[in-house]
Amino acid sequence: MDKNIITLHGQAQSLVWELQEGAAPLWRYWGKRLPDDADIPLRGEAPAPSFSLDKNIGLSLFPCFGHGWYNQSALLAHRGGQDFAQSITSCHVERESESALCFHMEDAVAKLKFLVRVRLCPQSDVLSVTTTLTNLAETPLVVERLANAALMLPHDAAHVRSFTGKHGAEFNTQEEALGRSIWVRENRRGITSHADFPGAYVLMPNAGEHDGGVYGAQLAWSGNSFQALEWLDEGCRQWQLGAWLAPGEVSLDAGGSITTPELLATYSPHGCNGVARNFHAAIRARLNWPSGTMRPRPVLLNTWEGFYFKHEEAKLKSLAAQAAKLGVERFVLDDGWFKGRVDDTRALGDWVVDAEKYPHGLAPLAQHVTQLGMEFGLWVEPEMVNPESDLFRAHPDWALQIAGRPHLTARNQLVLDMTNAAVQDYIFNALDALLRTLPIAYLKWDHNRNLTSAADAQGRPAYYKQVQALYALLARLRTAHPHVEIETCAGGGGRNDAGIFQHTHRAWVSDTIDPRARIEMHKGFLHFFPPEIMGAHIGSVPSHSTGRTQHIDFRAGVALAGHLGLEYDISTLDSQEKTRLKHWIARYKQWRDHIHGSEVWQGAHTDAISWQAYGREGAWLLFIVRQDMQRLRHMPDLRLPFVDEARTYAITQLEPEETEHAPLHGAWLKQQGFPIAQMQAEQVSIYRLQVI
Ligand code: DGJ
Repeated sequence: MDKNIITLHGQAQSLVWELQEGAAPLWRYWGKRLPDDADIPLRGEAPAPSFSLDKNIGLSLFPCFGHGWYNQSALLAHRGGQDFAQSITSCHVERESESALCFHMEDAVAKLKFLVRVRLCPQSDVLSVTTTLTNLAETPLVVERLANAALMLPHDAAHVRSFTGKHGAEFNTQEEALGRSIWVRENRRGITSHADFPGAYVLMPNAGEHDGGVYGAQLAWSGNSFQALEWLDEGCRQWQLGAWLAPGEVSLDAGGSITTPELLATYSPHGCNGVARNFHAAIRARLNWPSGTMRPRPVLLNTWEGFYFKHEEAKLKSLAAQAAKLGVERFVLDDGWFKGRVDDTRALGDWVVDAEKYPHGLAPLAQHVTQLGMEFGLWVEPEMVNPESDLFRAHPDWALQIAGRPHLTARNQLVLDMTNAAVQDYIFNALDALLRTLPIAYLKWDHNRNLTSAADAQGRPAYYKQVQALYALLARLRTAHPHVEIETCAGGGGRNDAGIFQHTHRAWVSDTIDPRARIEMHKGFLHFFPPEIMGAHIGSVPSHSTGRTQHIDFRAGVALAGHLGLEYDISTLDSQEKTRLKHWIARYKQWRDHIHGSEVWQGAHTDAISWQAYGREGAWLLFIVRQDMQRLRHMPDLRLPFVDEARTYAITQLEPEETEHAPLHGAWLKQQGFPIAQMQAEQVSIYRLQVI
């Protein structure tokens, strides 16, 4: 192998760069695993096409603007209008290990240093990329755009699958054909956002859910972001992701540096499910569980949709007792418990217990819950303040704001300037006091608006620093209270990303609990994150957000694979629904250890059927979901791509009825398919397949 060729080989993918004299390494390949001994030819010089630079400048690991690169640049920066062009002049590659490289690069003219760290995790087969940019000059460097690096994609990458939505309708999948125009998604909402998830899948021609080459990338970042996919004249595409920067947001003083949020990326020859499996492994490795490892995800009851702001201590105590009887293991007191919080117009910021609702504080309720054998959890929204609050009256300057401009409220609230140390201390102390004085095992950490006018006390944009400050606060709190688990929530799923999951343990996916709506959202969520952190609740009927009414078995069947919760006033249920609920909670407890941590496959069949399979060690749980009525006279069999063609499977139907089926051979299940029984509209059937 030529010494100028640098490779990283993973389980199923390889990356290749070519070192260039006085320039950044050139991208040569990212895709299906190459043999270790494959000889990689140097690029060689081709005759320059007409109207081109005499020496072609190809896609490098870190393309910069102004010195021969015409496409999207990983960096846009200047010094007061000067030094607007950058170009790497030297690169030294340090191999930290078989699977990790450090590209030490410099631009001696612009006086910049770049350190790009690339690690291909041997276990998950997921690439992690971070870049540190350092200003080596005496004058400040204004950074306008900074991608982690450029990723190279083949010229014939055909489709991009990305995710969009809104409050109440998160993680909708959209697929677009890639052409010659640039494809860009940008998020300027200050949090991860419901609308522009910072990640996507890129599918090669003919790639699908289970087969074919698929690339995936996601940014571990809970703030503004961008991603761009661009066709390049040299016959490939580039993909850049990074934190989106507001004008003037980042300025590096002499010696100053900035490190990008981590980018996770992967390639799988096994279709979209292959990419998802890699991401699940990577996220599982990043989750920071209180005791080091995940314990069985407790069934929880959340009070929000059952009670909203109407907290009556006696009623909640009775609810807790009934919940415990059904098998609930964690009781989460949602919004409405703190001083003056009668509705959403007031009180955020005043984190002391409301004496009218709880004359003796929260301790009696919390102790009642723990005496029933459940954990006690509490909702908080620490980064927020209502203008109608003691906190705002005392510190109006603590809210993010732009001098001379009116406040723009959303849900009647403003965002606190987390970059202000006094604000950090105030929030830490308020939460610390609650955690020290009450037996709280769990916080639901909410954030119910997007950022706008986010200037710090010096009038500088604070979007980027706000996210770093949040991470710092979460880390501080977790150090002080390591046993506490945290759920991330931002009006449902506005802040679900690989960055926040380094500090939290559960995602609230959406405020829409309706199972039909959830099917699509869970599918999107599972593209990036594993089921054990996917908060999924059984709610009341009709659904508060959609008005639809569905049977308890459908509501439970859709929620079962996630981290299960209940979110309604169970005291109003008739005995039949209570019996079913108890049954489903028992089912969840029976299967959670299998599902959480398992290999996940998702697929669509024909005629309103979709499915998921959760497997480990030759045992699979197959969920078949019928959303709508059957329109075909006979249902075609469902091919199961996940089974082993060389084995035979014992098949048991678990839901709706427990029934033994005749065993079937893997080859048959894979090629011809699994016979689907008649199902009603809005029904989930669950089967167990076990290798014999
Ligand atoms: C938005 C969340 O998504 C809900 O679950 C609930 O916690 C409310 N906020 C409370 O205000």
